[in-house]
Amino acid sequence: MLNRSRRLRTSLAMRNLVAETDLRPRHLIQPHFVQPQAGSTEISSMPGIVNASVEETVRQAEKDLKKGLASVLLFGVPDEAAKSPDASYCCDHAGVIPQAVRALKKAFGSDLIVMTDVCLCGYTSHGHCGLVDEEGVVQNDQTLPILAEMALRHAEAGADVAAPSDMMDGRVAAIRTLLDENGFTQTSILSYAIKHAGAYYGPFREAAHSSPKFGDRKSYQMDPRNAREGLRDALLDVEEGADMLMIKPALPNLDLIWRLREAQLAPICAYHVSSEFSSVKAADRLGWVNGDQLMYEHLIAIRRAGADMIVTYAGREAVEKGWIS
Ligand code: PBG
Ligand code: ZN
Repeated sequence: MLNRSRRLRTSLAMRNLVAETDLRPRHLIQPHFVQPQAGSTEISSMPGIVNASVEETVRQAEKDLKKGLASVLLFGVPDEAAKSPDASYCCDHAGVIPQAVRALKKAFGSDLIVMTDVCLCGYTSHGHCGLVDEEGVVQNDQTLPILAEMALRHAEAGADVAAPSDMMDGRVAAIRTLLDENGFTQTSILSYAIKHAGAYYGPFREAAHSSPKFGDRKSYQMDPRNAREGLRDALLDVEEGADMLMIKPALPNLDLIWRLREAQLAPICAYHVSSEFSSVKAADRLGWVNGDQLMYEHLIAIRRAGADMIVTYAGREAVEKGWIS
């Protein structure tokens, strides 16, 4: 036989020589849930992930950074009492995220990339990602200035990247304009360009206490039946000034990661979301799968599809257990 593909699979060294994709700590972004209270609170559906105080967050980020995890994505988990219909706490200078950003930047400076979630759902009493009117309809244009101000607060505190996940139209332009007007021309925007509605975010909403109190998110997040819609929106985000593009959830959208990679040149980030992580953990606990190996195979598939970077709850484990280095 002239062609024997197995010749290139004979040893680990040979397989490493011809490997097309790799997964390194630099590709991973570790999410953190930050709470105003001291200490930390377990999240039952996400083993190993906690809601943590600013102090605890800095401590954890330091350990991770030593192992090469140099990017974090912060989500605020304010007290129920701080929530309101207009999400005003999200624009508070003394809020939990501005505090966390300042603390992380003070501790690690430019060695750590600090990304912040920009969305209202953790801050509204109704749990929607934007303001709602009397009928409960989410109001796009009224929400934009609040998102922009929230991003500005994070930039003032020293954030490197604002990551709007709300899915309002025009928010990238609104954020870019306000940041530039205030001199934050170097703060970048990672926009959630393709984000499907559905059941994939359940464990996250338990962690962030951000479930909508009524209705669902289908009038702003995308319909999972659609692919072209997402590509079209992603291109609009780039026109509005997005520096990097997020796709989520990750594994159900490998087609879109690939197609967006082909369609455009900006860095692409995939979000391996809470239930993708939790499903692996649950099956591993049942003894039905090898969780570490399966998690790694998820992440490598996402890289192979074309993602430059991955937000994943498994980042810390990956470097601690040495699946990647
Ligand atoms: C907030 C937000 C969500 C996620 C990231 N930002 C939840 C949602 O849209 O309800 C989900 C992340 C995950 O499931 O890990 N808009
Ligand atoms: Zn939201």
